[in-house]
Amino acid sequence: MFSARLPEDLHSNPLTRALRRLEAGGISFIDLTVSNPTRVGLCYPKGLFNSLNEASSDYEVHPLGLPTARNAIATYLRGGAVKVAPQQIVLTASTSEAYSLLFKILCNPGDEVLVPQPSYPLFEHLTRLDGIVSVPYRLEYPGLWSIDLDSVASAISSRTRAILIVSPNNPTGSYVTNTEFEELTALAKRYELALIGDEVFRPYPVATAFPPQPSVVDSGAPLAFSLGGISKLLGLPQLKLAWVAVSGIDSVVTETLARLEIAYDTYLSVTTTVQRALGSLLESGHGVHEQIATRIRHNFGVLQRVAAEVPSCRVLPVGGGWSAVIRVPAVVSEERRILDLLENHRVLVHPGYFFEFPEEAFLVCSLIPEPEVFTAGVARLINGLGRVPVT
Ligand SMILES: Cc1ncc(COP(=O)(O)O)c(C=O)c1O
Repeated sequence: MFSARLPEDLHSNPLTRALRRLEAGGISFIDLTVSNPTRVGLCYPKGLFNSLNEASSDYEVHPLGLPTARNAIATYLRGGAVKVAPQQIVLTASTSEAYSLLFKILCNPGDEVLVPQPSYPLFEHLTRLDGIVSVPYRLEYPGLWSIDLDSVASAISSRTRAILIVSPNNPTGSYVTNTEFEELTALAKRYELALIGDEVFRPYPVATAFPPQPSVVDSGAPLAFSLGGISKLLGLPQLKLAWVAVSGIDSVVTETLARLEIAYDTYLSVTTTVQRALGSLLESGHGVHEQIATRIRHNFGVLQRVAAEVPSCRVLPVGGGWSAVIRVPAVVSEERRILDLLENHRVLVHPGYFFEFPEEAFLVCSLIPEPEVFTAGVARLINGLGRVPVT
């Protein structure tokens, strides 16, 4: 009766069952997987949402987005050294929707896109839901995460349409370097592939004195897309506004925008209200961005300090983003480890396999919880990691 776009087996896994048991027993735990910025005690300025109330009952339709909103994004991007004209910017309701629309204009059913591994777990669902196939290429860790460029080249087939890159990557925190962009662009040119760069965490470098990192927009690829959004930039996922900046050879960009316009006109999912409010949100929401940026740096410092107490655990370096990765001894499986941490130490972290790390054992934690909560959670985590769970 159903399509193969969703997995056949929808049954819960041991972790969701453990979470349900705790919930049923009214037992609390510290959640170090939280990714919802509206639930971590950030201070949203009074009046931030006023511009939404000012919107009228008028419905203004522009398939690619209102010119004022596209201008506001172009201005913001320029501040981060990304130069694209407002006409090259397209609004979407979310990054997920951006992926879906790009897949629709680039791929036929059964076509392939290359995705990094380890990375954002949603790629499998996003591609399957659009009837296409995600083919992994590897990130390797010889002391710093980098793209295994041979694995990219060997993953390309006659059905490949695009290479996805996430910079900085979730959860490894690694930015794509200039050299990697050069190699990826050479492949994109040779095989006529688009580069799709997920740059939602680009504005979150962990080091303070960090020069802006290269963007896919400047890669020189014949067709490149940079994805961003206020969900991460301003901690406002509830307003559903993201964007795609299109760059490349002029004639290809023009053709792409014409095709995107038809696809977007079919859905028109970004509200007039949020588009009209965007300029003001970008201005008055800057403080929220700063709070998150300060918090991830602070929390990462706490994690490094506390984890240093357990020599067998190693916090991997993070270039940017909202996550940190901890390498732990693979004396028990990641699943056993996270269940032990949850059930016996009352702290929740992600297992590495959730992101398809090449081997065990890695744990991933979010860097955006409130500092007091984060510090308490890390203390539980490190205490738990200091003991080997009974298998
Ligand atoms: C790499 C990456 N891209 C995109 C998203 C989602 O962005 P949005 O809320 O705009 O759909 C996430 C969410 O965690 C993410 O990790």
